[in-house]
Amino acid sequence: MKTKAIRNVSGAAMMSAVLAGGAHAEPTLEVLHYWTSGGESLAINVFADALNNAGGKWVDQPVAGGGGDAMNTVLRTRVIAGDPPGMTILKGPVVTEWANAGALADLENVAAAEKWDDILPPLLSDIVKVDGKYAAVPLDVHRVDWMWVNPEVLASVDGAVPTTWDEFNTLADKLLEAGITPLAHGGQPWQDATMFEVVALGLGGPDFFREALVDVNPDALRSDTMIAVFDQMRRMRGYVDDNFSGRDWNLATTMVMNGDAAMQIMGDWAKGEFLAANKTPGEDFICAPAPNKGGYILNSNSFAFFDDPNASDDAVAGRELMASLLLSEEAQIEFTLNKGSVPARLGVSREPYDICGVRSMDDIEATLASGTLVPSMAHEMATSSANRGAFLEIITEHFNSDMSSQEAVELLVEAIELAQ
Ligand code: BGC
Repeated sequence: MKTKAIRNVSGAAMMSAVLAGGAHAEPTLEVLHYWTSGGESLAINVFADALNNAGGKWVDQPVAGGGGDAMNTVLRTRVIAGDPPGMTILKGPVVTEWANAGALADLENVAAAEKWDDILPPLLSDIVKVDGKYAAVPLDVHRVDWMWVNPEVLASVDGAVPTTWDEFNTLADKLLEAGITPLAHGGQPWQDATMFEVVALGLGGPDFFREALVDVNPDALRSDTMIAVFDQMRRMRGYVDDNFSGRDWNLATTMVMNGDAAMQIMGDWAKGEFLAANKTPGEDFICAPAPNKGGYILNSNSFAFFDDPNASDDAVAGRELMASLLLSEEAQIEFTLNKGSVPARLGVSREPYDICGVRSMDDIEATLASGTLVPSMAHEMATSSANRGAFLEIITEHFNSDMSSQEAVELLVEAIELAQ
């Protein structure tokens, strides 16, 4: 499959790369990214191989740190210094922020040649289009609101996968009594926010989620439902082990894999870790949507290309060639199988996907139809970087202190006001 993806460079793509870069260009692309865990590395290497095998040169610039906050700091510094990377991971409204700052390259030629409007669903193309033009290329769809469960650990306390938050708490208390860590968690702001938004969808439902986490409506932010969300976060704090602070998300996944904890709440990039360790879904681990009353929290990765006025011909040719390869069916399949996500592209066969992938695909369709699919706040899909920063600050402060839920909602409303 890899070789096919690589050889499948369309004539149009090659031609535009050559035209952009001149006949002697060696298409070169510097890629700033944060996909450094086991599964993430396998996934991004699919694109690196595709570029290299099509005659280009991939220059890798990884910045460790899940969720991308560390990479985003490096990105800002580099852009301010006039040294932007060729390509980087940008998502959701952040794409619009950079496009409006005039920082991104025009992708219209590649989009037309590769017929992106025909092969991408509006759900994803709308996110990356600014003024009707592609400012980034959607790569996949991740579901955020998953629970990853070790079935043996669950069986050891005669437990069942919880379908409500009350059941979750009862199970977690039982695990604690048996001396087992119920929840594998890494205490980093984006991981706290991931857990928080999953609880917010679970307890409040999609309408509440939208009002509070997308529209940042102050009434929703200080509502009784939000108090209940912080109350549940306080309970969750009691279900993590003593060493959770600062732990990387993939190490938390390993805890579930090894039976050192029962469950992790994390998006399906966690599945990439289980698969990279040769674990089988449904046998070695269980994927189950976290308790909710319907809904799906969407996170879609996309790549954007920076427009560097000093870019060499090679760099311009590199970005055109890469952009033309990202949405080939073969690259989409191979990338998403490693990443734990499902393809951005329409019409890809479901056959290669496991039960978690198929469940994700089914639930996207169902929640889109019922209007219950919501964009992830924690993963930069829902709101401005400033609003997201305000959420992360208060959620983490609450999780790591004895702050009351009432105080947390007041501080949240203030922090959101300041972010406007
Ligand atoms: C990204 C994923 C990534 C995860 C952990 C999320 O925000 O969208 O692609 O695997 O963070 O690094």
